Amino acid sequence: MLIRKPHSYLSGIAKITKLHTGLDSGLRYGQNSLPADSLKGRCEMTKNFLQPILFDSNHQRTPMIRRMFLLFLSCLTLIPFCAGSGGPSSTQGALMVKKEAFGSTPDGKAVELYTLANMHGIEVRVMTYGGIVVSVKTPDKAGHLADITLGFDTLAGYLANKPYFGALVGRYGNRIANGKFAVDGKEYTLAKNNGPNSLHGGLKGFDKVVWQAESFQKSAEVGVILKYTSANGEEGYPGTLHVTVTYTLNDKNEFSIDYHAITDKATPINLTNHTYFNLAGEGSGSILHEELMLNANHFTPVDSTLIPTGKIASVTGTPFDFTKSTVVGSRINNKDEQLELGGGYDHNFVINRQGAGLVLAARVYAPTTGRVLEVDTTQPGVQFYTGNFLDGIHGKHGHIYNKRDALCLETQHYPDSPNQPSFPSTILKPGQTYHEITVWRFSTR
Ligand code: BGC
Repeated sequence: MLIRKPHSYLSGIAKITKLHTGLDSGLRYGQNSLPADSLKGRCEMTKNFLQPILFDSNHQRTPMIRRMFLLFLSCLTLIPFCAGSGGPSSTQGALMVKKEAFGSTPDGKAVELYTLANMHGIEVRVMTYGGIVVSVKTPDKAGHLADITLGFDTLAGYLANKPYFGALVGRYGNRIANGKFAVDGKEYTLAKNNGPNSLHGGLKGFDKVVWQAESFQKSAEVGVILKYTSANGEEGYPGTLHVTVTYTLNDKNEFSIDYHAITDKATPINLTNHTYFNLAGEGSGSILHEELMLNANHFTPVDSTLIPTGKIASVTGTPFDFTKSTVVGSRINNKDEQLELGGGYDHNFVINRQGAGLVLAARVYAPTTGRVLEVDTTQPGVQFYTGNFLDGIHGKHGHIYNKRDALCLETQHYPDSPNQPSFPSTILKPGQTYHEITVWRFSTR
């Protein structure tokens, strides 16, 4: 379903009437907190300190009233250090958005980096080059913040971003077979940048252009509105396409991506975000121990070039059944034709839904850190990709990213839909509005 009314869940961009940049507000989260280890130490000290006051061997000589007074004073002094020690609530912050320069592209376009933070200390950074989500910092169950997305420290890394870390992908996310499709009886040819197929919008997709940006701040959310106009014929696609993507972080620990587009000629469109998650923290190794639930009874099997065969297959009795939370790596090496073709999971799952609107598509849980990521979406599918092609990429903080060090949950329409008449249509016509929403919700348990 392409045409959707703005969902009531988040106020749509049309409703945003006043924008606040809040550029001078600084990052203030964490100012009242101490690291959990040091808090634990202080609580131990309290115990040791109180022991002699209450139970000293000379207690006969210390009047009871004096001992009680000393105890009262000690409690007053130490309560603030012990309260909430180690829990996620120890990460305090303030809602804010700030903008800074992040270098420029080889053709001289300035790139800006926006930092969004909420009152719980969650921080998301996005940049105007490729609409890329540069980092996502969330607390673990002990309150320690870590960046849970793969990426690079500088713009230079992203300019050669082969794996599409954090990218805003378009005009068509995922593959189009043989780089060809027809609309209204006219055939169009795209660049083949992935074997015989076109992948993620072609040679210079939406992940490689500089977007116009404007930030906003409201009472319980902050965000950035990104705009890009894709010219008629760009990368071989028909029609001038006006795209608006709004990234919003709210105080309920939700980060939403709201996509809008209009066109002046019928064109395929399939926008997604390609963030690579590792809920134990980027650079911490494999995600195979993380647990995944996919709200999908079916998936779309692929051929040897990862183009869907057209079949909608049941997941029942296969390694593709994630309807109950399952360890990601528990079946990934099973003898299974689809797993072998994908080199692991690299498949589109058909999200269970009754009608349009936001539904829960996926939930990931990392037992080591207690972090939980839930993904809601209005889209019909989600590409579950286990980073099978990561091959020693030099990422943030000198970390090397290898195969299976992250997973992607790319909410989307099914791959190759323009050539698959039985799949939901991805053709946007003049007069229609493309509108999709995806929400990432962060928590711990
Ligand atoms: C695709 C993978 C591809 C990756 C990076 C995913 O969306 O399904 O096959 O390797 O993107 O391009």
